[in-house]
Amino acid sequence: MRPFHFPCSRSSSKSPADLLGFAVVIVLCLASSTSSCTDQDKSFLLQFLAGLLEDGGLAVSWRNDTNCCKWEGITCSADAMITEILLASKGLEGHISPYLGNLTALLRLNLSHNLLSGGLPLEELVSSSSIVILDVSFNHLSGALQELSVQTTTRPLQVLNISSNLFIGQFPFTTWKVMNNLVALNASNNSFTGKAPSSFCISAPSFAVLDFSFNQFGGSIPPDIGNCSMLRVLKGGHNNFNGDLPDELFNASSLEYLSFPNNGLNGVLDDANIIKLSKLSILDLGQNMFSGKIPKSIGQLKRLEELHLGQNDFYGELPLNLGNCTNLKVIDLIFNNLSGDLGKINFSSLSNLTTIDLLMNNFSGTVPESIYACTKLTALRLAHNNFYGEFSPTMNRLRSLIFLSIGGNAFTNITNAFHIFKSFRNLTMLSLEESFAHEILPEDETIDGLQNLQHLAIGGCSLFGKMPAWLSKLRNLEMLRLSDNQLTGSVPVWINNLNFLFYLDISNNSFTGEILRTLMQMPMLKSEKTVDHSDARVLSTYWDSKYEYRVLRAALNIARNGFIGVIPAEIGQLKALSMLDLSFNSFSGEIPQAICNLTNLEVLQLSNNNLTGTIPSELNMLHFLSAFNVSNNDLEGQVPTGGQFDTFDNSSFDGNPKLCGALLSHHCGSAKVVPVPASTLSTMQFSDKAIFGIAFGLFFALGVLLDQVVLTKLRVLQL
Ligand SMILES: *[C@@H]1O[C@H](CO)[C@@H](O)[C@H](O)[C@H]1NC(C)=O
Ligand SMILES: *[C@@H]1O[C@H](CO)[C@@H](O)[C@H](O)[C@H]1NC(C)=O
Ligand SMILES: *[C@@H]1O[C@H](CO)[C@@H](O)[C@H](O)[C@H]1NC(C)=O
Ligand SMILES: *[C@@H]1O[C@H](CO)[C@@H](O)[C@H](O)[C@H]1NC(C)=O
Ligand SMILES: *[C@@H]1O[C@H](CO)[C@@H](O)[C@H](O)[C@H]1NC(C)=O
Ligand SMILES: *[C@@H]1O[C@H](CO)[C@@H](O)[C@H](O)[C@H]1NC(C)=O
Ligand SMILES: *[C@@H]1O[C@H](CO)[C@@H](O)[C@H](O)[C@H]1NC(C)=O
Ligand SMILES: *[C@@H]1O[C@H](CO)[C@@H](O)[C@H](O)[C@H]1NC(C)=O
Ligand SMILES: *[C@@H]1O[C@H](CO)[C@@H](O)[C@H](O)[C@H]1NC(C)=O
Ligand SMILES: *[C@@H]1O[C@H](CO)[C@@H](O)[C@H](O)[C@H]1NC(C)=O
Ligand SMILES: *[C@@H]1O[C@H](CO)[C@@H](O)[C@H](O)[C@H]1NC(C)=O
Ligand SMILES: *[C@@H]1O[C@H](CO)[C@@H](O)[C@H](O)[C@H]1NC(C)=O
Repeated sequence: MRPFHFPCSRSSSKSPADLLGFAVVIVLCLASSTSSCTDQDKSFLLQFLAGLLEDGGLAVSWRNDTNCCKWEGITCSADAMITEILLASKGLEGHISPYLGNLTALLRLNLSHNLLSGGLPLEELVSSSSIVILDVSFNHLSGALQELSVQTTTRPLQVLNISSNLFIGQFPFTTWKVMNNLVALNASNNSFTGKAPSSFCISAPSFAVLDFSFNQFGGSIPPDIGNCSMLRVLKGGHNNFNGDLPDELFNASSLEYLSFPNNGLNGVLDDANIIKLSKLSILDLGQNMFSGKIPKSIGQLKRLEELHLGQNDFYGELPLNLGNCTNLKVIDLIFNNLSGDLGKINFSSLSNLTTIDLLMNNFSGTVPESIYACTKLTALRLAHNNFYGEFSPTMNRLRSLIFLSIGGNAFTNITNAFHIFKSFRNLTMLSLEESFAHEILPEDETIDGLQNLQHLAIGGCSLFGKMPAWLSKLRNLEMLRLSDNQLTGSVPVWINNLNFLFYLDISNNSFTGEILRTLMQMPMLKSEKTVDHSDARVLSTYWDSKYEYRVLRAALNIARNGFIGVIPAEIGQLKALSMLDLSFNSFSGEIPQAICNLTNLEVLQLSNNNLTGTIPSELNMLHFLSAFNVSNNDLEGQVPTGGQFDTFDNSSFDGNPKLCGALLSHHCGSAKVVPVPASTLSTMQFSDKAIFGIAFGLFFALGVLLDQVVLTKLRVLQL
C-alpha cells in the first residue's frame, strides 16, 4: 500500500507523461528548496521542539534564524509549505505538541520508535491539518483516545499507526465516520479494552488493514468487519475475544491475512464460510477452543501459505485435498486430537513446505514417503503421536532440516534412524525422546556428520548400551539428555572436550564409577560467562497443560545411577551451574565446603547417598536456592538456618537421624526425640508431593519446552 507518493504531488498514476511531470516536479522541488518556510510554520515547529525534554540533537539544525525547510527531518513543498516531518528513531522524549496540527499542508508525520509520552493530540492533528499518514508507534504514549468532537468535514487520513504504546480505555467509535479515506489502522500492542473497533468500512470503502492484536478487547468479534470488501489484513490475536467467528466476517472476501490467535474463540469452522476467503494466504487461529473437523474447503485455498490451527480441540482426519494447497509453507496443528493415517495426503505437491508441526495429536501409521519430497523442510515435529515403524532411507532427502523432533511415538530401529539423520548437516536440534523402546544405542563409529547439532535429547527410551564415542564428535553440542535409559559403563573423559556443553542430564541409568573428577572439568560449566550465555536463551513460557516453564540453565543431573566416591572440592569451579542433582547414587564422604561457591545454584539435590559430616552452614548464602534435599544420608550436626534455609521443608532433611535443628524432630542439644504431630506430618507429605511434582515437571517438560523454543526461533527466521 503506497497511498502517498511524493511530497510535491498527490498524483499516484504512473503513465510516461506523468513520469515526465514527476521529473519536472522534482526539479521544481529542488529549485524551490531555497524559498523559506513561513514564520508561522516555523513557530509551530519550535513549539514542538519546546515540548521535548530530549531532542536527539534536533536543536542543532532547528534554529530560529534558518529556513525551516532545511531542518533535520522536515520536507517542504515547492511553495515552501511543510509537508513531512520524519523523525523516527531520534531518541525524542517529551510530549507531542498539538501545534503540529496547525501546519496546514502537513501530509506525513512519523514519530515512531521514540520515547514520547503523554497523550496523543489526535483531535488537533487530524482535524485542522491535512495529515494523510500518522505514525506514532513504539513510543510511551498513554491515556485514552478521545472521540473527535466535531463530526462534519471528512478527513484525508489514510494510515494511522498508534501501535506499541500504552494507550488504555475504550476505542473511539464515532471518530471513524469522518475518516472516509482510511486505509490502514494499527492499534496493536496497547491496553485497549471493551468492544473492538469495526465500523470503518461504511465510511471508508478502501479500508484494507486492521490490526488490533495484543490488547484487552473482549466480547465477540464484531460482524460488521465483514462489510469491508477491501480488507486484506485482519489481526486480532492476543485479546479476550469469545464466541465464534461470525458468518458475516467471511463476506470480507479480499482477506489475505486472518489472524486471531490466543483468544477464547470457539465453534466449528464451516466449509461454506472458509471457501469464501479464496485469497487467504495466512490463517492463524491457534490457541483458542475451536472444535470439530478441519474443513475440507481449506484444500481449495490455493494461495494458502501458513496454516496455524494449533492448541485447539480439532479432531478427525486432515482433509485429503490439503495436498492441493501447493503454496503451503507452514502447517502448525500442535495440541489437537487429530488422527488418521497421514499417508492418505499427498505431500509431494507441497514442495514449498518449510515447517510441519504435528506435536501432541493422535496421528498414526508410518511416516508417509511423500513427506520426504518436501526438501525445503527446515522443521519437522511429529512428537507425541502414534506413528510407528522404521524411517525410510529416502528421508535423507530432507537435508535442509534444522529441527527434528520425533519422540513419543513407537518408532523402531534407532541405528537405522541415526544412519539417516547423520546426513542432515544443518541439524541443530534432534529429539528422540520416548521412542525406540528397549533398543541398543548404536556405538557404530560410522555415525558422523551432525557437526552442527546443539541439542540432542534421547531420554526416556529405556535404551541399552554405553555412552557412544561418536557423541564426542558433536563439537557444537550444548545440551545432552540421555536420562531414563538403561545405559551402563562409565562417563567417558572426552565429555570435557565438548566445549559448549552446559546442560548434561544422564539421570536414571545404570552408569557406574567415580564420575565426578571428570565432570569437574566441563569448560562451559567452569566459565563465569555461562550465566549470560544461558540467560540469553531465556525462552518464552511454554504451557503443556501440566507444567509451566521458563528457562534452560546450566545443569548437571547424574541422579539415579550407581556412581561412587566423594564429591571433590573442585565442584566449586562449576560456577555456572543452576542445577546440580547427585541424588540416588552411592556418594560418600562430606559435602565439600566449596559447594557454597556455586552462587547461581537454584536446585541442589543430594538425597539418598551415603554422605556424612555436617551441612556447610554457608549454604545459606546461596540466594537463588529454591530446592534443596539431603534426605536419606548419614549427615550430622545442625541444619543451617537463615537465608533460603528458612523456606525448606523438614522433608529435605528426613532420614538423617544425627541431624538436629529447631524444626526437626531432633532438637539440637536435646537427646529426646519429639513425636511429630499429625498436622505437621500431613503438611510434610503434601510438600513432598509438591517438590516431586516440581522436579518431575522440570525434567519432563524440558524436552517439549526446548522443542518449542527452537521452533519458535525458526519461525521468527522464516517470517
Ligand atoms: C524567532 O525569531 C522571531 C523574529 O525573527 C521572533 O519574533 C521570535 O520570537 C523568535 N522565536 C523564538 C522561539 O525564539
Ligand atoms: C491552531 O489550531 C487550533 C485549532 O486546532 C486553533 O484553535 C488555534 O488557534 C491554532 N493556533 C494558531 C497559533 O494558529
Ligand atoms: C515510519 O518510519 C519508520 C522508520 O523509518 C518506518 O519503518 C515506518 O514504515 C514509517 N511509517 C510509515 C507509516 O510509513
Ligand atoms: C505502522 O503501521 C503502518 C500500517 O500498518 C505501517 O505501514 C508502518 O510501517 C508501521 N510503522 C512501523 C514503525 O512499523
Ligand atoms: C502493527 O504494528 C506492529 C508493531 O507495533 C507490527 O508488528 C505489526 O506488523 C503492524 N501490523 C501491520 C498489519 O502492519
Ligand atoms: C509491544 O511494545 C513493546 C514496547 O514498545 C515492545 O517492546 C514489544 O516488542 C511490542 N510487542 C509486539 C508484539 O509488537
Ligand atoms: C484436490 O485434491 C483431491 C484429492 O487429493 C484431488 O482428487 C483433486 O483432483 C484436487 N483438485 C485440484 C483442483 O487439484
Ligand atoms: C513455491 O514458491 C515459489 C515462490 O515462493 C513459487 O514460485 C512456486 O510456485 C511455489 N511452488 C509451488 C509448488 O507452488
Ligand atoms: C545449510 O545452512 C547453510 C547456512 O545457513 C545454507 O547456506 C545451506 O543452504 C544449508 N543447507 C541446506 C541443504 O539447506
Ligand atoms: C535396522 O536397520 C538396518 C538398516 O539401516 C538394518 O540393517 C537392520 O537389520 C535393522 N535392524 C532391525 C532390528 O530391524
Ligand atoms: C571458593 O571460594 C573461596 C573464596 O572465594 C576460594 O578461596 C576457594 O578457592 C573457592 N573454592 C573453589 C573450589 O573454587
Ligand atoms: C554407606 O556406608 C557404609 C559405611 O561405609 C556402608 O556400610 C554402606 O554399605 C554404604 N551404603 C551405601 C548405600 O553405599
